[in-house]
Amino acid sequence: MPNSEDTAASEPRPRPLISVEGLARRFPEPRGKGELTVFDNVWFTVDPGEFVCIIGHSGCGKSTILNILAGLDRPSDGVVIVSGEAIEGPSLDRAVIFQSHALMPWMTALANVELGVSSRHKDWSRSQVRDHAMKYLELVELKGSELKKPAQLSGGMRQRVGIARALAIEPKIMLMDEPFSALDALTRGSLQDEVLAIRAKTHQTTFMITHDIDEALLLADRILLMTNGPKARIAEIVDNTLPENRKRADVHRHANYYPLRNHLIDFLVARSRELAGGAGGAFDPRHPPVVHPAAGKPTTAGSTPGKPIAASSSSAA
Ligand SMILES: Nc1ncnc2c1ncn2[C@@H]1O[C@H](COP(=O)(O)OP(=O)(O)O)[C@@H](O)[C@H]1O
Ligand SMILES: [Mg+2]
Repeated sequence: MPNSEDTAASEPRPRPLISVEGLARRFPEPRGKGELTVFDNVWFTVDPGEFVCIIGHSGCGKSTILNILAGLDRPSDGVVIVSGEAIEGPSLDRAVIFQSHALMPWMTALANVELGVSSRHKDWSRSQVRDHAMKYLELVELKGSELKKPAQLSGGMRQRVGIARALAIEPKIMLMDEPFSALDALTRGSLQDEVLAIRAKTHQTTFMITHDIDEALLLADRILLMTNGPKARIAEIVDNTLPENRKRADVHRHANYYPLRNHLIDFLVARSRELAGGAGGAFDPRHPPVVHPAAGKPTTAGSTPGKPIAASSSSAA
């Protein structure tokens, strides 16, 4: 284990639920004979009950990583281990929520959620399926709208149905690819509140892509920072130093908020580009530096390349 200045590192972490080990994805160049290496040597873990966000510029490969986690795409190198086993393809244990809702347009909200439930529980009676689906529609505050079809629902409500459908399957892992980016700011805010409440209630393990820094700080326990591609990689892991019971209304008043926010912005504005293609920080890609931006504490990951700031002690299973 690398040395650490942090007490957190000495506490044993749970065995990770997801272990991403040496992932790479290459595509044939559109015109040339060569290959485009989108990302390379990507390692990270997600612990049970953890909410992990990934941030990086468009095109660095975030959706490709999420699709590989979902089993919808295969890596060129590396492996994804879930609960100790390499994944082979899609599974009801890994539910995906995309930017667009992907609901069946001819079915009611309830029927859309029931469809997921009955695919999971083939032996359940109709009323069992209905009760279970209703429980999750209530969780996302859609009680009373369950008999509406997607066209009769607002964009935010449709996305809520998608969330209910994914949660109702009771997956081990929820994978979200910019789920709120197509929504207006107010709707996005209320859905973020919903996800916060669900997170507190269910401790659903979640891996989420977002380009919204404030969203990441509100929702995530840890934030993975990805450099620009080609050959993108996880350059750093930011531990969220905000209190667990944070609320959207006042989170920005916490002393650690701006140190965290500035750190993420600095990464997106400058360091994601400077560190592209493997430049800079010659760290072990299995242990990207972990930083804990906080008030009164300089976060200098950028100025101490190669030095793991805290143990990423959840090493590969
Ligand atoms: N099926 C594919 N064939 C060729 N190139 C692809 C394919 N899928 C993704 N890419 C390329 O991989 C890169 C990363 O894409 P993506 O994962 O969607 O990035 P992000 O989600 O970070 O914006 C892009 O340059 C994209 O053009
Ligand atoms: Mg994407």
